Amino acid sequence: MKFDVLTLFPEMFEPLRQSIIGRAEEKKLIDINLINIRDFSKDKHKKVDDTPYGGGAGMIMRADVVYEAYKSINDKDAKVIYLTPQGKVLNQKKVENLSKEKHLILLCGHYEGIDQRVIDKIVDEEISIGDYVLTGGEIPAMVLIDSVSRYVDGVLSEDSTFEESFSHGILEYPQYTRPETFENIKVPEILQSGHHENINKWRRCQALENTYKKRPELLEKAELSEEDKAYLLDIAKNKK
Ligand code: ADE
Repeated sequence: MKFDVLTLFPEMFEPLRQSIIGRAEEKKLIDINLINIRDFSKDKHKKVDDTPYGGGAGMIMRADVVYEAYKSINDKDAKVIYLTPQGKVLNQKKVENLSKEKHLILLCGHYEGIDQRVIDKIVDEEISIGDYVLTGGEIPAMVLIDSVSRYVDGVLSEDSTFEESFSHGILEYPQYTRPETFENIKVPEILQSGHHENINKWRRCQALENTYKKRPELLEKAELSEEDKAYLLDIAKNKK
């Protein structure tokens, strides 16, 4: 999967090239190509922004400079995403759908924004990473690349993605590792029983309970079995 990132601050993406995403790039499972919008400025001082027509605070990124940077990519089939707080808020379903694309172009704004004419001309979709305002689209672009790359074949172990799809919209169960006793607290006994069916049932109940306590609103949209629903009813009754 290819990501082309249109940005004024390519250095900001350095931390992304660590750990799992770094290895995925080395293995050529994903390709992150950073394009510095400033390289496409025809101005002798490499200016990329100007004051807003109609007045007001801040500077606006110029349409012509952004458009030249976009044209350098030369792939009509790529999906162009503009990271902006005005976009639809990213969620796991959206992440999964985006991972089916072959080529994403991520446009990162900075300053007070980008001239609307180039947004209208090139952008297919606007995405926000949450209802708060950041100083630019670089961190949101990294969030998108990281979350989408996890779904690319070979980036994570088969088990991790299987377990995630199994959880179908609820939170994960708690995990434990050595030492067996930490500050007098033992690992739940069932996890050492070797009985995989019982362990899976226990984990499912823990995941449901976790979701009920921490993010109950997720349960409304989650895919739940009759057994799950019965268990949730039990939790609700015990809470009264
Ligand atoms: N740019 C600034 N804030 C943003 C946000 N919350 N999501 C996406 N892009 C942004």
